Amino acid sequence: MLGQIKVTADFIRSKVKQIPENAIILGTGLGGLVTKIDNPLSIEYSDIPNFPVSTVEGHCGQLIFGTLGGKNVMAMQGRIHFYEGYDMKQVTFPVRIMQQLGFKRLFVSNASGGLNLDYQIGDLMIIRDHINLMPNPLLGRNDDHLGVRFPDMSKPYDLQLIELAEKVAMQQNIKLHKGVYVGTTGPTFETPAEYKYFRIIGGDVVGMSTVPEVIVARHAGIPVFALSIVTDIGVEGKIVEVSHEEVQREGAKAEVKMTAIITEMLKQLN
Ligand code: HPA
Repeated sequence: MLGQIKVTADFIRSKVKQIPENAIILGTGLGGLVTKIDNPLSIEYSDIPNFPVSTVEGHCGQLIFGTLGGKNVMAMQGRIHFYEGYDMKQVTFPVRIMQQLGFKRLFVSNASGGLNLDYQIGDLMIIRDHINLMPNPLLGRNDDHLGVRFPDMSKPYDLQLIELAEKVAMQQNIKLHKGVYVGTTGPTFETPAEYKYFRIIGGDVVGMSTVPEVIVARHAGIPVFALSIVTDIGVEGKIVEVSHEEVQREGAKAEVKMTAIITEMLKQLN
C-alpha cells in the first residue's frame, strides 16, 4: 500500500504549490463549506491515481485546496463509505494521503441520528469519543512505516481542538453538544430497537461514517476534530421515517453553523 500512497501523494504535490496543514472531510450534504474557500483549486477524485470515487448522491468527489479562516486547507467534498462496497483500506486511503503529505490536523463532519433524549434535529455535537461497530480499518498486517500495531485510543479526539470549538461556539452563540458517536456500517437506518440499544450502550448519536477515518488518523498520529449534525431523531416516540433526502435537507440547514465554527477555529489556530 505504501507504494500506492506515495504515487498518489506525489501526484497531489505536483498539482498544488503548497501543501496545507489542515484537512477537512465533509459529510453527507455538507459540501457547502467549500463555497467559502478562497482561491479554490479543485481536483476530481477520478483524476487522482488510486483515489476511490464516492457513489452516493450528495457526495460529489473532489479535493479542494484554498484558504479558509485565513489558513491553507484541503477539503474533501464527498467521502467514501464502507456501505458503498469499498473495503476499509480504500475508505481510509485519503487519510493515508494526508499522512504522507504531512497534514497537521483533520476536521471531520457528518450527519447522524440523535439518540440522546435532549438532542433535536439541527443540533450540532462535538464528537468526544466513539464506539466502533464497523470492521476496524487496521485489521490485517501492520505496516510499521504507517503506525504502531496496537494504537492507543484513550484520546481519540483532540482535547485542545474540542476546547477551541467550545470557545468559538460560545463567542458565536451557537449551541453545541458534546457526546459519543456510534459508528455502524449502514446502509439501513436503525430499527427502533437498534436506536434504543445504541443509546443504552452509551451513544449520543449514530452514523455510518467517520470512525474508520478517525482510527486511521490516530494510527497516523494526526489530531482529529469531529462535528456531527443531528439530522433525525432515534428516540422512542419521536422516530419518524428517515430518508437520505431528509438527512441531506436537515444537514444543509445546520451546515451554516458548522461552517462558521470550523472557519473561526481555523482563524484562531496559531
Ligand atoms: N442512523 C444512521 N446514520 C445516519 C442517521 C441515522 O439515523 N442519520 C444520518 N445518518
